[in-house]
Amino acid sequence: METYIAKILPEEYENLLNHADIQKAAEIITSGNLVGFPTETVYGLGASVFSEYAVSQVYQVKGRPQDNPFIVHISNFDMLESIVEEIPPLVSKLCEKFWPGPLTILFRKKPNVPDIVTAGLSTVAVRMPSHPIALALIEKSNVPIAAPSANLSGFPSPTSAEHVINDLNGKIPMILDGGACEVGVESTVIDLHQDPPLILRPGGVSYEELLPFLPDLKVYKKEQHDKNLIKNPPSPGMKYRHYSPKAKVILLEGGTENLEKILTKEYNYQVNRATKIGLIHTHSHVNLEKIIDITKENVIINLLETDSRFTLGEIVARGIFAALRDLDQEGVDVILVEAINEEERGLAVMNRLRKAASRIVKK
Ligand code: TXA
Ligand code: MG
Repeated sequence: METYIAKILPEEYENLLNHADIQKAAEIITSGNLVGFPTETVYGLGASVFSEYAVSQVYQVKGRPQDNPFIVHISNFDMLESIVEEIPPLVSKLCEKFWPGPLTILFRKKPNVPDIVTAGLSTVAVRMPSHPIALALIEKSNVPIAAPSANLSGFPSPTSAEHVINDLNGKIPMILDGGACEVGVESTVIDLHQDPPLILRPGGVSYEELLPFLPDLKVYKKEQHDKNLIKNPPSPGMKYRHYSPKAKVILLEGGTENLEKILTKEYNYQVNRATKIGLIHTHSHVNLEKIIDITKENVIINLLETDSRFTLGEIVARGIFAALRDLDQEGVDVILVEAINEEERGLAVMNRLRKAASRIVKK
């Protein structure tokens, strides 16, 4: 199959509903086929929620385990009402505050949402993305769009059209190219049917932002939740390998003060084993020249707090998946990543890095 790649520039956003490529993409969706499209978080691989065949193709193309359900993307509140049983007042408030945006909420699903979308669960995960191309595609298709991230299962999520092309070229009819994703990590998934309410997956909307609305909000942590919940994780995606590039990822934790020491030790250990080392450098106070042999083949990717408009968490979130993919393309054997603080968007970053890492070094 030939994949048609359509680049849409920001200056074309004003009249997207009449854009020829949005019309074409919407026809593909309504005819039961798949489209790769940008959202503010990561690229999605979309199918009409009402086409069981198209949804089954999404599982197939990604190589995704059949028991891991999809997020359903909507562009207006009528669409939400058409697929969920009830919208409690507190949920309405959250939607008003955070939509369109990177927050996904679990609802009791109506029977018209096929079981294949929710992997047989009675709840459906819904969000309204804020990327203009995503909103226009859903609106023009006039159906909610089920979409996981548009990567091959297990690999880092795609934050540019090139990433989608690398993983899915020739496997889907069309990719909409809307440039690099602004947020760079996936949406926050929350379950308000649990008591206390739970963040199942930290993401673009932070715990700190949600807390004023949900004072007893907790973040799901394997070790803190009961055994039953671990055996049947409330979010099926939790139990799978995730976000891993081909190179071995080693996460360097241990706090700002110790980082230089930990990096020195791990670098020296790896130098004798790996021919080529990649480093994702997030702490400007760490003096790399002292530690790493720059004359070697090593590759350093800087994700540093250089623009005061953004927090370190936001900067690393935006660049982390691309960094993992780029280092793979460079052919490095190991990737060392400097951990960041888990505040605000840093929580989502560290959640992804812990899942990608085959080893975590703390001292
Ligand atoms: O930002 C995002 O959320 C991106 C963009 C494309 O919107 N989508 C995304 O989808 O990350 P995906 O499929 O890669 O991750 C969806 C997560 C999975 O961990 C899945 O298990 C969970 O949401 N999920 C979906 N439906 C669920 C449900 N009914 N109950 C619990 N967890 C659910
Ligand atoms: Mg994913």
